[in-house]
Amino acid sequence: MINYGLDGKVALVTGASGGIGRAAAQAFARSGARVLVCDVKDVEGRETVSMIEAAGGRAAYQRCDVSNPDDIKAMVARAVDTWGRLDCAFNNAGVNLLGRDEFEDENWDVAISINLTGVMRCIREEAAAMLETGGGAIVNTSSINGLVGNPNQPGYVASKHGVVGLTRQAALKWAQQGIRVNAVCPGVIETPMTAPIAADPKLKAVIDSMTPMGRFGKPEEIAEAVVWLCSEAASFVTGHPMVIDGGAIAF
Ligand SMILES: NC(=O)c1ccc[n+]([C@@H]2O[C@H](COP(=O)([O-])OP(=O)(O)OC[C@H]3O[C@@H](n4cnc5c(N)ncnc54)[C@H](O)[C@@H]3O)[C@@H](O)[C@H]2O)c1
Repeated sequence: MINYGLDGKVALVTGASGGIGRAAAQAFARSGARVLVCDVKDVEGRETVSMIEAAGGRAAYQRCDVSNPDDIKAMVARAVDTWGRLDCAFNNAGVNLLGRDEFEDENWDVAISINLTGVMRCIREEAAAMLETGGGAIVNTSSINGLVGNPNQPGYVASKHGVVGLTRQAALKWAQQGIRVNAVCPGVIETPMTAPIAADPKLKAVIDSMTPMGRFGKPEEIAEAVVWLCSEAASFVTGHPMVIDGGAIAF
């Protein structure tokens, strides 16, 4: 694993109790950042902290439901109060209501409020904190469903397309004030979210056949890109929706 040189930096990660978020929190810590691990799953979130500490890193847990604006304010305040600054933020918390009809208002509202409005509110609070210390870097989790559609999930597809648009808007807004804003657009990644697909051999074979590399991605393969995007190595990269999908949408 590469060290992206984040000594002295402070990072926060939403949805860090498992999957991509946990891998990213660990990757930030390996590169030297102090990491605020944020989620609604408290036990698993504290486990992420323990894993980071066991590897010699520094982290703390903060409960944050990203559909609650007060939680988001408290999350950013915790990072600043604890470590004095906020340099990197990975807005990754999300839901996939697999199998539920997102043309139903109730399901649509859940997908949009967590996956899109939550990201907007995180960006708003994080940028305000970053401006206090001269800038920072934000990465938002979209999806390949933020760039291409699928026939079954209007709420998920619309929310993830919205994240790409919001990323571009925010990148333009703060381009001259030292804040870079990018997105990652993962293909199918081996996480708790996709466990039902992985557990169904027929479905898994269909997904593998739609992925030129013939497999699911690993959370670490997204995490590495996120930390790179937050590092000085990506100092001229902003407004970019980075596709990490084993070639799935290359054709
Ligand atoms: N796994 C994939 O194939 C895949 C593909 C593309 C995009 N994504 C996106 O990646 C992100 C991470 O997903 P994952 O695959 O690691 O799944 P995951 O289910 O392991 O992780 C999602 C995390 O978000 C947390 N979360 C859910 N609602 C929340 C809320 N309201 N407030 C705070 N935290 C909340 C969950 O508790 C969980 O820890 C999501 O935004 C997802 O849409 C995943």
